Amino acid sequence: MTDTQRTILAPFDLDAIAAHEGRVIVFADKDTPLPRAIKRADKLTKGAVSRAIGSEAFDKLKPGQALSLAWPTGMQAEALQIIRMPRKPDAATLRKAGNAIGKAQGEKPALICADALPPREIVQAALLRAYDYQAQKAEPKPGFGPFHVMLRDPDAAASDTAEAEAMARAVHLTRDLVNAPANILTTTSFAARIEEMRALGLEVEILDEAQLEELGLRAMLAVGHGSESPSKLAILHWKGSDTAPLAVVGKGVMFDTGGVSLKPAAGMEDMTMDMGGAAVTVGLMQALAERKARAHVVGLVGLVENMPDGRAQRPGDVVRSMKGDMIEVINTDAEGRLVLADVLWYAQEHLKPAAVIDLATLTGAIIIALGHDKAGVFANDDALAAAFLDAAATAGEGAWRMPLDPAYDTLIKSRIADVKNSGGRPAGSITAAQFLQRFVKPDMPWMHLDIAGVTLTKSESAHAPKGASGWGVLALDALIRARFETG
Ligand code: BES
Ligand code: MN
Ligand code: ZN
Repeated sequence: MTDTQRTILAPFDLDAIAAHEGRVIVFADKDTPLPRAIKRADKLTKGAVSRAIGSEAFDKLKPGQALSLAWPTGMQAEALQIIRMPRKPDAATLRKAGNAIGKAQGEKPALICADALPPREIVQAALLRAYDYQAQKAEPKPGFGPFHVMLRDPDAAASDTAEAEAMARAVHLTRDLVNAPANILTTTSFAARIEEMRALGLEVEILDEAQLEELGLRAMLAVGHGSESPSKLAILHWKGSDTAPLAVVGKGVMFDTGGVSLKPAAGMEDMTMDMGGAAVTVGLMQALAERKARAHVVGLVGLVENMPDGRAQRPGDVVRSMKGDMIEVINTDAEGRLVLADVLWYAQEHLKPAAVIDLATLTGAIIIALGHDKAGVFANDDALAAAFLDAAATAGEGAWRMPLDPAYDTLIKSRIADVKNSGGRPAGSITAAQFLQRFVKPDMPWMHLDIAGVTLTKSESAHAPKGASGWGVLALDALIRARFETG
C-alpha cells in the first residue's frame, strides 16, 4: 500500500528559507505588497525573485500556477517555486497551487512558506498529486518527501491539516485498490483488507457464498459462478449518528473478462479496475472513520470475478434476483447490474436506509457520452442529485446529470422473464440505470453514479497522475458533510 507522506506544520521562520535543502515554495502576486518570505528569498538571491515576478512568464501565469528557479544563489535549496497567488484566493486557486507543489515533489522535503494562507486545500491537493503506485515494482522508488508548512499560526491549522491528510490517505487507498492487479487483489484478499479496517472503529461483516445463497442473492452469485474466487458481500458500518443510514453500494468486479460473452483481448487488462465502485466505497468509509464523521453510513461492496468456465452462467440463462424478479441474462458481460440489483435490494431490506447511492464502472456507453472528465449521475430525487453536483464541484470532481425515464424500459423488456440485463447499444448507460431502478423501492431516494470513464485515466489530471484517479471519495465526503451529517 502507498504510504501517504506526512505534513509537518511549523511556526514561520525566515531563516529556514536560506537553510532548507529541498524545494522552497513561496507565494506572490503582481501589484500587491510582497509577502515577507518573498522579500527574504529576493534578498538571498540578489534580486532574482523580483526579476522573475516582473517577467513576462510570471505575467502569463494564472492564479495557482508556478514558475521555478533552479539552484537559486544564496540558498541551500535545489529549487525555488514561486506560485502566483492573489491576496484573497478561493479554494480552487489554493488547490491548483497544491497540485503544482505535489506534481514537483520528489524524495526531499519541500518547504511551503504559506505564512497566513490557509493550508488545508494546499496540503490536500499536494498530497493528492504526489502519488505514485510502486507496489508491483521489484525495487520500488523511495516515497515522496514530507511537506514542511511554515505558518503564522500552526496550532490553529493542525486539525484542518490532519483532516486533509486523512482525506488524501483515503483517496490513495482507493487508487491503490483500483491499480492493484486482479491476481493480487482477489475477492478474498479484498475482503481481508476490509476486515483490517475494524482497527479504525468500523464494524465489518463479510457474507460468504453459503450465506448469500441462503439470503437469495442469486443474480450476484451467478456472476461469480465461473470463477475460482468465492463471491463475497462486505458490509462496513460507520455509526456516527443515530439517524437512519445512508447506504453506499459499490460494484466490486475484481476482473471482468465479460464471461462467456467474452470481451476482446485488446484493452481487457484495464478490467482490473472493474472494482472501482467498491474501491471508492471503501476509501469513503475509511475517510468517515478517520475524521469521525457525525453521520450514519453503511458501505456495501459486492465482490465477484466474472470468468468464462464450465460452471459460468450462459447467455440466455434466467436467474432469480433477491427481490424475486426473474432476469434473463442476454449478455454475461452486463454483469455489474446483476451484482448491484441484489446488493441494492439487500441494503434496502436489511438497513432501512434514508437514501441509497451506488457507484459502478457500469457501462462503456458512459465513456461515449461523457468521456473521462465527468461521471454520469442518475437519480430519482432532484434534491439529492443537485446536492451531489454541488459537492462534486466543491471537490473539483466532474459529474453530469443523466436522464431516467420509463420510456427506456421497452429496451430491456424480456420475452420470457421479467427483465433482460442488456438493451444493446442505444442509450446503454440509461438502460443500465433503468435496470437498477427496478431494484430500488418506490419512495427510496436513490442515486446511481456510472464511473466507468473517470475511474482510470490514460493521462494525468490536475490532481492525479495517470492511472487510478480515486474519483468520488472527495465528492461523496462533501455530500455527506452537506446533507447527512448532524451538528
Ligand atoms: N465493466 C464494464 C463496463 C466498462 C467498460 C467499464 C469500459 C470501464 C471501461 C461492464 O461490465 C460492461 O461490460 N458493460 C457492457 C454492457 C453491455 C454488454 C450491455 C458494455 O458497456 O459494453
Ligand atoms: Mn462487463
Ligand atoms: Zn463490468
